[in-house]
Amino acid sequence: MNASVTVRVPAKVNVQLSVGPLRDDGYHDLVNVFHAVSIFDEVEAKESESVKVSVEGEWADQVPLDEGNLAVQAARALAKHAGRSYGVELVIRKTIPVAGGMAGGSADAAGALLACNELWGLGLPLEDLMEIAGDLGSDVPFSLLGGTAVGTGRGERLSQVEMGGTFHWVFAVADGGLSTAKVYAECDRLREVSGEQVAGLQGNQALLDALRIGDAAGLGAELTNDLQAAALSLRPSLAQTLAVGTELGALGAIVSGSGPTCAFLATSAEHARALAEALSAADVCRTAVPTSGPAPGAQLI
Ligand code: C5P
Repeated sequence: MNASVTVRVPAKVNVQLSVGPLRDDGYHDLVNVFHAVSIFDEVEAKESESVKVSVEGEWADQVPLDEGNLAVQAARALAKHAGRSYGVELVIRKTIPVAGGMAGGSADAAGALLACNELWGLGLPLEDLMEIAGDLGSDVPFSLLGGTAVGTGRGERLSQVEMGGTFHWVFAVADGGLSTAKVYAECDRLREVSGEQVAGLQGNQALLDALRIGDAAGLGAELTNDLQAAALSLRPSLAQTLAVGTELGALGAIVSGSGPTCAFLATSAEHARALAEALSAADVCRTAVPTSGPAPGAQLI
């Protein structure tokens, strides 16, 4: 047994998020192209009699410390899977915005799964952890896997995408989060009001080709997010954030997942840094973070 294990887990952006009609179980079928980026949370797991959690970092005060904490749920689910009543003290060091549409909670759950698997000496293979992850949340399996992947079903069934280079991004983080469930509900409401018929869900070959050959301009032109209209309806100020990033020369501008974080594709690392500075100066976000993708999934450090 190890006394302490630390795992690093990436944030994500969805470069395609196509949302089908509401299912009977309250979820939506998706074609969801996940792309992990180099903004990381750390989850440390230490020996303990009971399951405890603490959170450090800029977003710490917004993370629940009770059974609502996804990392706690992950530790309990893994112990249950192993048929034992293990304890663990989890310390989450947050850098990924909370309720920002970047899978921050899912990252912490994935981190807890990998860290507890190691701390408790369970030795479960990734595929077992992926299955437990899927029950914890639709985005948790991808946080384990990382890279770039197409998710189907409610997003938990993954197939990895071949990648041909590094993409440079800026994330404009907003003040205050958006509830994923509320954004999906707003998407349903807007579709009902407009009478929009949801067409069959399809992958986008041009987008996959752009990812495969590392074509940033091609990727920028193909970014789509069916939740964007709903996020903008709930947070109208995001329209200006997207417009300013586009005026500043981003190759593509999109709400990240259910928002309110906005993602901008840059031409280079240098362009990403300049774009982040300009977005901060334009006062259209709380902070703007330059980064790159794809990033690896949950990893022991
Ligand atoms: O799976 P997860 O718990 O992260 O999802 C949070 C909420 O987002 C769900 O309760 C549901 O309202 C919505 N959701 C959805 N369809 C999906 C994924 C999530 O409607 N495919």
